[in-house]
Amino acid sequence: MLYSEKVMDHFMNPRNVGTIEDADGIGEVGNAKCGDIMKIYLKIEDEIIQDVKFETFGCGSAIASSSMATEMIAGQPVSKALELTNKAVAEALDGLPAHKMHCSVLAEEAIKAAVKDYYDKNGIAYDPAIFANMGCEDCHG
Ligand code: FES
Repeated sequence: MLYSEKVMDHFMNPRNVGTIEDADGIGEVGNAKCGDIMKIYLKIEDEIIQDVKFETFGCGSAIASSSMATEMIAGQPVSKALELTNKAVAEALDGLPAHKMHCSVLAEEAIKAAVKDYYDKNGIAYDPAIFANMGCEDCHG
């Protein structure tokens, strides 16, 4: 079977779908090649991610990746969310097919973009290197 049970589960029953109206950070990223878009909303209090929601217009692997990624960062400190790699997301899903790994990259990048938005909005200083190799120039200009 191409997809693990976990991928299928998170695709069929994605967790944390939706938006947060008074989000503290919003990150939107896209993949220029496949055209898929992912948006992550974070509610942050005392540096802890109190709530996280996502909207993904994309393939099943992107939806499963966003769902898993939101579960992995919910309740965690912001610093932990920044450490989340697409590999960790894919591993938590019991793997993704090689040509679907880029879908998990969207999840990592959307979370980073949301944290960056939170830092920027709140005037919190950060090392720009953290966000240096964030993906797709085409999409976020
Ligand atoms: Fe592009 Fe999955 S095919 S995110």
